[in-house]
Amino acid sequence: MKLNSLTLNTASTRSHFTNIDSSNTEKVSTKPFLKWVGGKTQLLEELKKYVPQDFNMYIEPFVGGGALFFDLAPERAIINDANEELMNTYSVLRDSVDELIDELSKFVYEKDFYYELRAKDLSELSKIERAARTIYLNKTCFNGIYRVNKKGQFNVPMGKYTNPTICDEEKLRVAHLALQDVIIECDNYMNVLLKHAKEGDFIYIDPPYHPVGKYSDFKRYTKDFFYKEDQIALRKEILELKNRGCFVMASNSYCDFILDLYKDFDVKVVHAKRFINKNASGRGNVKEVIIL
Ligand SMILES: C[S@@+](CC[C@H](N)C(=O)[O-])C[C@H]1O[C@@H](n2cnc3c(N)ncnc32)[C@H](O)[C@@H]1O
Repeated sequence: MKLNSLTLNTASTRSHFTNIDSSNTEKVSTKPFLKWVGGKTQLLEELKKYVPQDFNMYIEPFVGGGALFFDLAPERAIINDANEELMNTYSVLRDSVDELIDELSKFVYEKDFYYELRAKDLSELSKIERAARTIYLNKTCFNGIYRVNKKGQFNVPMGKYTNPTICDEEKLRVAHLALQDVIIECDNYMNVLLKHAKEGDFIYIDPPYHPVGKYSDFKRYTKDFFYKEDQIALRKEILELKNRGCFVMASNSYCDFILDLYKDFDVKVVHAKRFINKNASGRGNVKEVIIL
């Protein structure tokens, strides 16, 4: 393990670099350990402009790859996502990082291995094996997409990579630190907000985006879709959180439906580089919104 020689940016003083060793338990700003469609790494600088200086709990109810969560590395946090395999991975990383790394180190980038692991019956795997499988598939599948069929079975084909890093030990250990004392839930976002959100908390809401183009309706992070009615219910929830005294920031796509839905809010238009359709040529600078 090379943590002794690692220099990392601390969450509290971002311009200050510090050495950490393996006995250090200080949380440091880091990057997601998974690729996630809709991940917010591209928008971090914009998003951080609107993070309040002081807040009690950081709550991210649609955490996905957790780009903002890992960048802020907050002391007190609750993360949630409806994707069970994802949240199991976070829990295992928080509680059993050594076992996870041991398991993942055995995995190889080979076609037969990929399809055998993909086809495994999850009920026969331990939590650690499931987490290792999720990370492996994320690193080796086509474009790091998480897509499941109606039965909830992962169905993304293997991707073409040259020697992909399957077990990035340093990154996993830093993410493990960021997850210490974090409450990890796996539920519908509404239940989590109802249970946890209190006055003074900062809530970052990054739901599946409302689709803009013909091919942009990728939303199969779970076996359920996120429909127009869900976007409408989410707006209501945001108002409810505001009335409760929470600081709320949300992101979504730039389109008439969302602009109209949030016309009474403070809406910032921002630009992000995104993979927006099935062809590589679909990577482009797209407009998105940050809702305050
Ligand atoms: C746009 S992604 C979040 C991306 C994340 N901010 C990042 O940086 O990677 C939306 C996430 O919402 C989750 N999701 C979808 N419906 C949900 C629901 N009803 N409750 C909680 N999470 C949900 C999906 O599994 C997906 O991971």
